[in-house]
Amino acid sequence: MGDPPLSQFPNSVHDVWLEVGFGAGEHLVWQAQNHPNIALIGAEPYEMGVAKLLTKLEETPLNTVRIYEGDGREIIEALPDQSLGRFFLLFPDPWPKSRHHKRRFLQMEMLNQLFRVLRPGAELRFATDDKSYLPFALERLIAHPGFDWLARSSADWKFRPADWPPTRYEIKAIKGPPTFLRFARRTTAR
Ligand SMILES: C[S@@+](CC[C@H](N)C(=O)[O-])C[C@H]1O[C@@H](n2cnc3c(N)ncnc32)[C@H](O)[C@@H]1O
Repeated sequence: MGDPPLSQFPNSVHDVWLEVGFGAGEHLVWQAQNHPNIALIGAEPYEMGVAKLLTKLEETPLNTVRIYEGDGREIIEALPDQSLGRFFLLFPDPWPKSRHHKRRFLQMEMLNQLFRVLRPGAELRFATDDKSYLPFALERLIAHPGFDWLARSSADWKFRPADWPPTRYEIKAIKGPPTFLRFARRTTAR
Protein backbone atom coordinates (compact mmCIF):
# COMPACT_ATOMS: atom_id res chain seq x y z
CA MET A 1 0.00 0.00 0.00
CA GLY A 2 1.41 3.35 -0.98
CA ASP A 3 0.91 6.81 0.42
CA PRO A 4 -0.53 9.27 -2.05
CA PRO A 5 2.31 10.59 -4.27
CA LEU A 6 2.30 13.93 -2.45
CA SER A 7 5.97 14.93 -2.62
CA GLN A 8 5.32 16.90 -5.84
CA PHE A 9 2.65 19.07 -4.24
CA PRO A 10 2.34 21.87 -1.65
CA ASN A 11 2.37 20.72 2.02
CA SER A 12 -1.31 21.59 2.43
CA VAL A 13 -2.30 18.85 0.00
CA HIS A 14 -3.60 15.69 1.67
CA ASP A 15 -5.03 13.66 -1.20
CA VAL A 16 -4.66 13.08 -4.93
CA TRP A 17 -7.49 12.79 -7.49
CA LEU A 18 -7.10 11.75 -11.13
CA GLU A 19 -9.14 12.75 -14.18
CA VAL A 20 -8.56 10.79 -17.39
CA GLY A 21 -9.53 12.44 -20.68
CA PHE A 22 -10.07 15.92 -19.25
CA GLY A 23 -10.80 17.43 -22.70
CA ALA A 24 -10.43 21.18 -22.29
CA GLY A 25 -9.97 20.86 -18.51
CA GLU A 26 -12.91 22.87 -17.18
CA HIS A 27 -14.05 20.12 -14.78
CA LEU A 28 -10.49 19.60 -13.53
CA VAL A 29 -9.97 23.33 -12.92
CA TRP A 30 -13.31 23.58 -11.08
CA GLN A 31 -12.38 20.65 -8.83
CA ALA A 32 -8.95 22.17 -8.12
CA GLN A 33 -10.44 25.60 -7.35
CA ASN A 34 -13.08 24.11 -5.07
CA HIS A 35 -10.75 21.67 -3.29
CA PRO A 36 -7.55 23.62 -2.59
CA ASN A 37 -6.13 20.82 -0.41
CA ILE A 38 -6.48 18.15 -3.08
CA ALA A 39 -3.92 17.55 -5.83
CA LEU A 40 -5.50 17.05 -9.26
CA ILE A 41 -3.70 15.03 -11.92
CA GLY A 42 -5.15 15.17 -15.42
CA ALA A 43 -4.26 12.81 -18.26
CA GLU A 44 -5.11 13.80 -21.84
CA PRO A 45 -3.34 12.84 -25.09
CA TYR A 46 -5.16 15.50 -27.17
CA GLU A 47 -2.65 18.33 -27.59
CA MET A 48 -5.30 21.03 -28.12
CA GLY A 49 -7.00 19.97 -24.88
CA VAL A 50 -3.72 20.24 -22.98
CA ALA A 51 -3.13 23.69 -24.54
CA LYS A 52 -6.61 24.81 -23.45
CA LEU A 53 -5.99 23.65 -19.88
CA LEU A 54 -2.58 25.40 -19.84
CA THR A 55 -4.26 28.63 -21.01
CA LYS A 56 -6.79 28.33 -18.18
CA LEU A 57 -3.96 27.75 -15.71
CA GLU A 58 -2.16 30.85 -16.99
CA GLU A 59 -5.28 32.89 -16.24
CA THR A 60 -5.93 31.09 -12.93
CA PRO A 61 -2.67 29.67 -11.56
CA LEU A 62 -3.25 26.54 -9.48
CA ASN A 63 -0.20 24.92 -7.95
CA THR A 64 -2.14 21.74 -7.14
CA VAL A 65 -2.67 20.69 -10.78
CA ARG A 66 -0.36 18.41 -12.77
CA ILE A 67 -0.85 17.38 -16.40
CA TYR A 68 0.14 14.13 -18.05
CA GLU A 69 0.04 14.58 -21.82
CA GLY A 70 -0.59 10.99 -22.78
CA ASP A 71 -2.61 7.85 -22.23
CA GLY A 72 -4.34 7.67 -18.86
CA ARG A 73 -3.65 3.93 -18.69
CA GLU A 74 0.08 4.64 -18.41
CA ILE A 75 -0.29 6.89 -15.39
CA ILE A 76 -2.68 4.48 -13.64
CA GLU A 77 -0.23 1.61 -14.13
CA ALA A 78 2.55 3.77 -12.64
CA LEU A 79 0.62 4.79 -9.50
CA PRO A 80 1.24 3.06 -6.16
CA ASP A 81 -1.47 0.90 -4.58
CA GLN A 82 -4.22 2.83 -2.76
CA SER A 83 -2.78 6.21 -3.67
CA LEU A 84 -5.88 7.96 -5.11
CA GLY A 85 -8.92 9.39 -3.34
CA ARG A 86 -11.05 9.89 -6.44
CA PHE A 87 -11.09 9.03 -10.14
CA PHE A 88 -13.04 10.77 -12.92
CA LEU A 89 -13.84 9.41 -16.39
CA LEU A 90 -16.29 11.88 -17.92
CA PHE A 91 -17.81 11.29 -21.35
CA PRO A 92 -15.04 8.97 -22.57
CA ASP A 93 -14.86 8.28 -26.30
CA PRO A 94 -17.89 6.00 -26.89
CA TRP A 95 -16.53 3.72 -29.63
CA PRO A 96 -20.14 2.86 -30.59
CA LYS A 97 -19.44 0.05 -33.07
CA SER A 98 -19.46 -3.37 -31.39
CA ARG A 99 -16.16 -4.35 -32.95
CA HIS A 100 -14.58 -1.26 -31.33
CA HIS A 101 -15.93 -1.86 -27.79
CA LYS A 102 -12.57 -3.33 -26.82
CA ARG A 103 -11.10 0.18 -27.29
CA ARG A 104 -13.35 1.64 -24.58
CA PHE A 105 -11.42 2.87 -21.58
CA LEU A 106 -13.56 1.20 -18.94
CA GLN A 107 -12.69 -2.49 -19.27
CA MET A 108 -12.63 -5.15 -16.53
CA GLU A 109 -8.82 -5.06 -16.52
CA MET A 110 -8.98 -1.26 -16.04
CA LEU A 111 -11.36 -1.75 -13.09
CA ASN A 112 -8.82 -4.15 -11.55
CA GLN A 113 -6.19 -1.43 -11.91
CA LEU A 114 -8.52 1.22 -10.47
CA PHE A 115 -9.36 -1.04 -7.53
CA ARG A 116 -5.61 -1.30 -6.92
CA VAL A 117 -4.86 2.45 -7.02
CA LEU A 118 -7.99 3.75 -5.26
CA ARG A 119 -8.22 3.72 -1.49
CA PRO A 120 -11.12 2.05 0.37
CA GLY A 121 -14.08 4.44 0.19
CA ALA A 122 -12.58 6.38 -2.75
CA GLU A 123 -15.05 7.39 -5.44
CA LEU A 124 -15.02 6.42 -9.09
CA ARG A 125 -17.08 8.87 -11.16
CA PHE A 126 -18.21 8.10 -14.69
CA ALA A 127 -20.47 9.99 -17.09
CA THR A 128 -21.74 9.09 -20.54
CA ASP A 129 -24.41 10.14 -23.01
CA ASP A 130 -23.91 7.03 -25.11
CA LYS A 131 -26.77 4.52 -25.00
CA SER A 132 -24.54 1.49 -25.32
CA TYR A 133 -21.61 2.66 -23.16
CA LEU A 134 -23.97 3.00 -20.18
CA PRO A 135 -24.96 -0.71 -19.98
CA PHE A 136 -21.39 -1.69 -20.95
CA ALA A 137 -19.99 0.30 -18.01
CA LEU A 138 -22.71 -0.70 -15.53
CA GLU A 139 -22.37 -4.38 -16.38
CA ARG A 140 -18.66 -4.27 -15.57
CA LEU A 141 -18.89 -1.99 -12.53
CA ILE A 142 -21.67 -4.06 -10.92
CA ALA A 143 -19.94 -7.36 -11.72
CA HIS A 144 -16.63 -6.16 -10.32
CA PRO A 145 -16.21 -7.38 -6.73
CA GLY A 146 -14.39 -4.22 -5.63
CA PHE A 147 -16.98 -1.48 -6.20
CA ASP A 148 -20.40 -0.52 -4.77
CA TRP A 149 -22.87 1.67 -6.65
CA LEU A 150 -23.75 4.67 -4.50
CA ALA A 151 -27.11 5.39 -6.21
CA ARG A 152 -30.17 5.02 -3.99
CA SER A 153 -32.74 6.39 -6.45
CA SER A 154 -32.87 7.26 -10.16
CA ALA A 155 -32.23 10.92 -9.33
CA ASP A 156 -28.75 9.88 -8.20
CA TRP A 157 -27.73 8.91 -11.73
CA LYS A 158 -30.02 11.10 -13.85
CA PHE A 159 -28.83 14.39 -12.36
CA ARG A 160 -25.33 15.73 -11.91
CA PRO A 161 -24.41 16.15 -8.22
CA ALA A 162 -23.72 19.72 -7.06
CA ASP A 163 -19.97 19.07 -6.76
CA TRP A 164 -19.75 17.88 -10.35
CA PRO A 165 -19.68 20.76 -12.87
CA PRO A 166 -20.69 20.22 -16.51
CA THR A 167 -17.91 19.49 -18.96
CA ARG A 168 -17.44 21.12 -22.34
CA TYR A 169 -18.58 17.92 -24.05
CA GLU A 170 -21.72 17.79 -21.95
CA ILE A 171 -22.61 21.38 -22.85
CA LYS A 172 -21.74 21.30 -26.56
CA ALA A 173 -21.77 17.81 -27.99
CA ILE A 174 -24.10 15.71 -25.95
CA LYS A 175 -26.13 13.16 -27.96
CA GLY A 176 -28.68 11.95 -25.42
CA PRO A 177 -29.60 12.23 -21.74
CA PRO A 178 -26.37 12.01 -19.72
CA THR A 179 -25.90 9.54 -16.89
CA PHE A 180 -23.74 10.22 -13.85
CA LEU A 181 -22.43 7.17 -12.01
CA ARG A 182 -20.73 7.21 -8.61
CA PHE A 183 -19.17 4.02 -7.29
CA ALA A 184 -17.20 3.54 -4.08
CA ARG A 185 -14.12 1.35 -3.83
CA ARG A 186 -14.84 -1.40 -1.32
CA THR A 187 -12.43 -2.08 1.54
CA THR A 188 -12.00 -5.63 0.31
CA ALA A 189 -13.27 -7.26 -2.85
CA ARG A 190 -16.52 -9.28 -2.38
C1 LIG B 1 -15.49 12.81 -25.74
S1 LIG B 1 -14.05 13.58 -25.09
C2 LIG B 1 -14.62 14.16 -23.50
C3 LIG B 1 -13.70 15.18 -22.90
C4 LIG B 1 -14.10 15.71 -21.52
N1 LIG B 1 -14.04 14.67 -20.51
C5 LIG B 1 -15.48 16.33 -21.57
O1 LIG B 1 -16.42 15.73 -21.02
O2 LIG B 1 -15.60 17.45 -22.14
C6 LIG B 1 -13.00 12.20 -24.62
C7 LIG B 1 -11.61 12.62 -24.27
O3 LIG B 1 -10.87 11.51 -23.80
C8 LIG B 1 -9.56 11.61 -24.30
N2 LIG B 1 -8.97 10.25 -24.26
C9 LIG B 1 -9.25 9.22 -25.08
N3 LIG B 1 -8.52 8.14 -24.75
C10 LIG B 1 -7.77 8.51 -23.68
C11 LIG B 1 -6.80 7.83 -22.89
N4 LIG B 1 -6.46 6.55 -23.14
N5 LIG B 1 -6.22 8.50 -21.86
C12 LIG B 1 -6.54 9.79 -21.62
N6 LIG B 1 -7.46 10.47 -22.34
C13 LIG B 1 -8.06 9.84 -23.36
C14 LIG B 1 -9.72 12.19 -25.68
O4 LIG B 1 -8.53 12.78 -26.18
C15 LIG B 1 -10.84 13.20 -25.45
O5 LIG B 1 -10.33 14.46 -25.09
